[in-house]
Amino acid sequence: MKLSNIAPVLPFLAFGCDASSASASAVSAGAFISTPTGTLKVTKAERCACKALVEKFQKEVIFPGEANYTEQTVDSYWDVRADLTPACVFVPETADAVAGAMKIINSCDAQFAVRGGGHMNYPGSNNIDGGVLVALSSLNSYTVHNDTIEVGPGLNWYEVYEALTPYGRAAIGGRMKTIGVPGLTLIGGFHYFNNKYGYAMDNVVSYDIVLGNGTQVTATKASHADLFWALKGGANNYGVVTKFTLKTYSVPKVTTTIQTYNETYFPQFIDAMCESAKVDEANPIAAGMIATISYNATTKAASASLLGVQEGASLPPSQFANFNKIPATERINNVTTMNLWSAELDSPKQMFRVMFSHKTMKPDSKTLFSIYQAWKAAVDEISDVEGLYPTMVLNEITPSSLRVAQTNGVGNVWGLEPEPLMIWQFSTGWALAQDDLRVEAWSRQLTEHLHSINQEKGLASEFVYMGDAGEWQDPFLGFPQENVERMREIRTAYDLDGVFSRLSWGGFKLGF
Ligand SMILES: Cc1cc2nc3c(=O)[nH]c(=O)nc-3n(C[C@H](O)[C@H](O)[C@H](O)COP(=O)(O)OP(=O)(O)OC[C@H]3O[C@@H](n4cnc5c(N)ncnc54)[C@H](O)[C@@H]3O)c2cc1C
Ligand SMILES: *[C@@H]1O[C@H](CO)[C@@H](O)[C@H](O)[C@H]1NC(C)=O
Ligand SMILES: *[C@@H]1O[C@H](CO)[C@@H](O)[C@H](O)[C@H]1NC(C)=O
Ligand SMILES: *[C@@H]1O[C@H](CO)[C@@H](O)[C@H](O)[C@H]1NC(C)=O
Ligand SMILES: *[C@@H]1O[C@H](CO)[C@@H](O)[C@H](O)[C@H]1NC(C)=O
Ligand SMILES: *[C@@H]1O[C@H](CO)[C@@H](O)[C@H](O)[C@H]1NC(C)=O
Ligand SMILES: *[C@@H]1O[C@H](CO)[C@@H](O)[C@H](O)[C@H]1NC(C)=O
Repeated sequence: MKLSNIAPVLPFLAFGCDASSASASAVSAGAFISTPTGTLKVTKAERCACKALVEKFQKEVIFPGEANYTEQTVDSYWDVRADLTPACVFVPETADAVAGAMKIINSCDAQFAVRGGGHMNYPGSNNIDGGVLVALSSLNSYTVHNDTIEVGPGLNWYEVYEALTPYGRAAIGGRMKTIGVPGLTLIGGFHYFNNKYGYAMDNVVSYDIVLGNGTQVTATKASHADLFWALKGGANNYGVVTKFTLKTYSVPKVTTTIQTYNETYFPQFIDAMCESAKVDEANPIAAGMIATISYNATTKAASASLLGVQEGASLPPSQFANFNKIPATERINNVTTMNLWSAELDSPKQMFRVMFSHKTMKPDSKTLFSIYQAWKAAVDEISDVEGLYPTMVLNEITPSSLRVAQTNGVGNVWGLEPEPLMIWQFSTGWALAQDDLRVEAWSRQLTEHLHSINQEKGLASEFVYMGDAGEWQDPFLGFPQENVERMREIRTAYDLDGVFSRLSWGGFKLGF
């Protein structure tokens, strides 16, 4: 069986989408742009920025109606909900161009959004109606060093793994192919190897960043150490990162396992997940997984899947012994390379509308199974939603993954103690815009209700991961208060004008 055959259990489904198109002359004339849902009035500030950008950068600026506009404002986004209609798109080719653009945007006082790999899934996090979209797709160069790689924010993780394969090395990034480097690295970064190397953010040794006033800064442990720390989980609150330097590790081969289970064995599957989260070894073998349960409200069929990866060649993979004991409908182990594995794990863009909701808890398998049962019953309540594609995803947080930040002399903004945790996430896909509010309300109420039961039982953690969160969630509430205060002070020091809160307001913002 090929890895791609397992795609049905992953949350992807094909739907068409209507590209928006509007005329270039509308923006240059400074009046209106038309969108699928109506007409947008371009503000004076946005007109000022788009005009100055095109005068300075010509070809790097794209207006509505021009050939590449749809590619940049629709095709580059994972969630159909994220498709919006900016007044102009700026596609910088150098960090200096980003710096020049920030000066223009700031002096015009224009609203803007920044996009890397376009996987963040809610409207406004990475795109904007009216305003300027800064699309980083052309900043896609890399340089491989002995034990680091410098990467531009226009790259996706597959491109990074492919660049490192000839050297037998791996970086700590996304588990699927086309997730972008910048968004994932700035919010944390769940990879298969977190248990040994920490999160993607813990593996960044240097950030080149353009601040809101257009100044370029390199933040490392030794220089701008406060900003260096804040960028480890601080998302898009500080500037536009134009280069990340990432640590790499010798991982010439990986052992992979693909397993699927029918519903009879869900209790054992969930129990094996909880046991895996609790493993706490001094020198762990790097190993981790993608764990998904899917349920079809029409056929009532449920199935669980494990996509596991561990470093080295060990058949069967030793770190998945608990899973290997469960009777599986399919079980395929293989020895391969990181880039060949991730090449098959595509997450195609523009497939559907998606709501993420999640909470975190201590790994208690009985309670997690009851969460699964409650979710399944709740899915039945919305089975009439067109194109419904419900999945429940589990992400483990192991003690050793958290110990990396505790011992590397830097830390990160999460400030989590090395204790096992389990993230339970509902990822719900659907087809029509008219169901947006309904699905969000359903997902939020269900999640908050189940979390409140965990709070009563003393099993709840208030940690929220930006990569698994819905727009109704505030990840900063789950960080230690002293870290949030420190993050605010650092924001004041580096962004006095509030460019990354007032003018770029989308995504997970620190608030005031
Ligand atoms: C199918 C799928 C699979 C996923 N798998 C994983 C996984 O395995 N592990 C994991 O940890 N997460 C995962 N995620 C979550 C993912 O990490 C986030 O969605 C992340 O934001 C994606 O990064 P991006 O560059 O593609 O996103 P974008 O949407 O481009 O950016 C995300 C945010 O970062 C900002 N941003 C982007 N580039 C920059 C920059 N250079 N400087 C400053 N701000 C910037 C944007 O403005 C936006 O607010 C997954 C998401 C999806 C949809
Ligand atoms: C526009 O698209 C063309 C063809 O795909 C490409 O060659 C060009 O670089 C693109 N320009 C921008 C600014 O993205
Ligand atoms: C990189 O590796 C090569 C070959 O092993 C070695 O000769 C060189 O000194 C290394 N460079 C650095 C900077 O460590
Ligand atoms: C699950 O699989 C077992 C064998 O592995 C089989 O006996 C059982 O009928 C299956 N149950 C369902 C619900 O498919
Ligand atoms: C196993 O790995 C090999 C080598 O990387 C690859 O060619 C093959 O397609 C893989 N097999 C499966 C079943 O994934
Ligand atoms: C559920 O099953 C029906 C009937 O086989 C199918 O049409 C639909 O696509 C399935 N839904 C999902 C989410 O797989
Ligand atoms: C831009 O902001 C930084 C950080 O506050 C500051 O050090 C720098 O002097 C500012 N640059 C200009 C040109 O104002």
